[in-house]
Amino acid sequence: METVLITGGSGLIGKHLCIRLKERGFNVCILSTSKQKAEGLTTYFWDINKKIIEKKAIENTDYIIHLAGANIGEKRWTTKRKQLIIDSRVKSGELIFNALKENNKTLKAFVSASAVGYYGAVTSDKIFIETDQAANDFLGETCRLWEQSADRFNELGIRTVKIRTGVVLAQQDRALIKMITQIKFGIGSALGNGKQYLPWIHIEDLCQIYIKAIEDKQMNGPYNAAAPDIRTNSEFTRVLARTLNKPFWFPNIPAFILKLLFGEMADVILKGSRVSCAKITAANFTFKFPNLENALNDLFNTSWLNTDK
Ligand SMILES: NC(=O)c1ccc[n+]([C@@H]2O[C@H](COP(=O)([O-])OP(=O)(O)OC[C@H]3O[C@@H](n4cnc5c(N)ncnc54)[C@H](OP(=O)(O)O)[C@@H]3O)[C@@H](O)[C@H]2O)c1
Repeated sequence: METVLITGGSGLIGKHLCIRLKERGFNVCILSTSKQKAEGLTTYFWDINKKIIEKKAIENTDYIIHLAGANIGEKRWTTKRKQLIIDSRVKSGELIFNALKENNKTLKAFVSASAVGYYGAVTSDKIFIETDQAANDFLGETCRLWEQSADRFNELGIRTVKIRTGVVLAQQDRALIKMITQIKFGIGSALGNGKQYLPWIHIEDLCQIYIKAIEDKQMNGPYNAAAPDIRTNSEFTRVLARTLNKPFWFPNIPAFILKLLFGEMADVILKGSRVSCAKITAANFTFKFPNLENALNDLFNTSWLNTDK
């Protein structure tokens, strides 16, 4: 049985991915900054600042999926927070790289998370593809450094894949739960002018892309992970309200209020362009949820929404 080690495996994507990988027949372990053991999974510990990583974590693994990173939308982007956002992705990658090198250990593949933020907080008609340059803003630079540290694994002869992910739609996603709550109380509204695009992906499709990245030896380099049906923020909110059978009439939240509330981070929600999924589909990946209505219906088709969260 092959083993997959997941960093940040206790997060939103990691939790789903662990389940799908186990179902697929992999032995799954997680590498965590917390000493708490994950239920039913072998959990190894690492401390990125102190450069500590449990040796067994890398000794026993065939693949590594690198999801770890301080949450981008959780706190205001102070200088200190920005550094943590970068270091938790880049220095963590370097720690794994050095551990592999020192132990003469190789992998069948190293798969790293990245984000569509690579292309920058910009609203335009352009549809970004994987060969486009990274943007100069904070997230663009973060993703560039994050991917650069992943690319170093090539030096060890390891196949390296980077998954530039759009907003993940999942039942446990805090941002989605917040939007739903507002819509349920009749105060859901689009953000800013609402014309910014919002690349998204259903959690099930994202998990299948990660599994494909592990299994498909032809996959290499960056891949956009966003469904083809990309809508503007306004359309997205309207579809969400319709799926919930709720009215959508509240005026847009003005950009200046969001900027006051969130500072620079507001750009992430106030701006956005489309990204192409042509590369991943050309690699024979088929989206189970290419359409937004179907994706939302699937997520809502369970009892969780009926429990007035
Ligand atoms: N969710 C999205 O919509 C989305 C979109 C694009 C890209 N991504 C990227 O995909 C990755 C996984 O996303 P997610 O939504 O699952 O994130 P998440 O729920 O915030 O989980 C990330 C995990 O990273 C670990 N972590 C947190 N702070 C850390 C730090 N300072 N240093 C090292 N590890 C830390 C934690 O695991 P332990 O406590 O076990 O260490 C945490 O559970 C992230 O890198 C994220 O930026 C996510």
